[in-house]
Amino acid sequence: MGRDTQTYLVGGVAAIGGFLFGFDTGLISSILEMDYWKSYFHNPGSVGVGVIVSLLTAGCFVGSLCAGWLADRYSRKKSIMAACVVFTLGAAIQCGSRNRAMLIIGRFIAGLGVGVLSMTVPVFQSEMSPSHIRGRLVSLQQWAITWGILVAFWIDYGCHFIKSDAAWRIPMGIQIVPAIILFVSMFFMPYSPRWLIDNDRFDEAQQVLARLRSGGDIYAPQVIEELEDIKEAVRVERETAVRSYAELLRFPIRRRIILGVVIQALQQLTGINVSMYFATSIFKQSGLSGDNAPLLAQGVNGVVNMLATIPAILWVDRWGRRKTLMLGSLGCGVTYFVQAVTTAATQRKTYDADGSLNLNIPHGPSYLIVVMMYLFVASFAMSWGPVAWIYPSEMFPMHIRSKANSITTAANWLLNFVIGLVSPILIKKITWGLDLIFAVIMFASIVIIYLFYPETKNRSLEDMEVIFTGSPWAHKDRKRIDEYDAARANQVDVDIKQS
Ligand code: GLC
Repeated sequence: MGRDTQTYLVGGVAAIGGFLFGFDTGLISSILEMDYWKSYFHNPGSVGVGVIVSLLTAGCFVGSLCAGWLADRYSRKKSIMAACVVFTLGAAIQCGSRNRAMLIIGRFIAGLGVGVLSMTVPVFQSEMSPSHIRGRLVSLQQWAITWGILVAFWIDYGCHFIKSDAAWRIPMGIQIVPAIILFVSMFFMPYSPRWLIDNDRFDEAQQVLARLRSGGDIYAPQVIEELEDIKEAVRVERETAVRSYAELLRFPIRRRIILGVVIQALQQLTGINVSMYFATSIFKQSGLSGDNAPLLAQGVNGVVNMLATIPAILWVDRWGRRKTLMLGSLGCGVTYFVQAVTTAATQRKTYDADGSLNLNIPHGPSYLIVVMMYLFVASFAMSWGPVAWIYPSEMFPMHIRSKANSITTAANWLLNFVIGLVSPILIKKITWGLDLIFAVIMFASIVIIYLFYPETKNRSLEDMEVIFTGSPWAHKDRKRIDEYDAARANQVDVDIKQS
């Protein structure tokens, strides 16, 4: 770590934004199964549950769309701080809800904050980072998301023993604490050096780079070199580019927008949030008996998700983005397939008096389904979880990075919203059919990544122009990029000899 300690510190603090994101995602799953919650809100059926779950993501969608403008105009740093304030308001309303409408409004407002954070944090981390640890630094946000989910699951678990409305109000209110911690810590964090340069604040940018890269020496060679590289990239971009949303739809940026939108959409189409939002209910349906078993199983799910993200943090910069995603898809596809076949072969549907579904799956197969769900979550956590956030944060040029990321992030939230809304209905209607649909999507995603997504590991943000301006067929474009690398290596040799 050593020389990059400061960068890790800044990236780590910003990652608390991921914790808030994760906490709000994880919170709802077990609350939905709490008796006090159900009776307070008059037992919302699957449509009502869908609305309550997905209004957060609707807020996130709107928040992420505004985030591009906010982050450019007021800086990444201040956008993160503003998001904390909005989030706190939303969390307070949820905690104090007196009826369904208040709960829904609270979730929507908290969602606005999470939406801004989900786009701004990875861009902030990516712009702070040298290329050799960029994947790792952005993965920290995903790791924090998984910690948020995990802590929410276990707080829910602890609170479900409380025999009053505090059982659900405490988890909803407690999220204010990390929001305040992030808000206060951000006062001490620097502005992104790339944002400073884009705003002609060169001296400040030099100081930030010195703090991050050379222990404060503003004349250190690596500081000067990076400063000049970024200045040059910004200058070229200014000459060639129109800095507007319209540009996102034009060549050569259009290709990257499509890739960014598709990778984010595919992340949600892994179905991860069916498991994050509804696994407690699925565990119950699949025959895990006893009051505590489904909640405990969900707690373990959170642990699996968090632990399986660690290999990605450590090695994503070595494995590369392509390989990681394709292997992840394979794991997810196979585990879905096994779940679908097991459920299809053993389910005997019945309904309780309150309309909840039981699949009456015998013990052996129901444990197999739980294990497959964990293996699915692990495959996702090692791959799609972090990489779908890393890739868009690194592929766009500076002048439109935040606008472009706000579009790709919004695509993620849109799909998250749709899945939150329709999956409780689909789980009930087609049960294993939903697993099969996700399995097919996962196998198809292997082909999509192979054909269209170029490798971006260990590239400077300024290199991305070359990577993304060749053939759209990523698997055929390797030769051109190898030639570019060889030419650059020669150039470096020449420079060294001359100096
Ligand atoms: C990713 C997804 C998010 C999901 C989480 C689970 O961050 O974007 O929707 O809840 O992973 O770990």
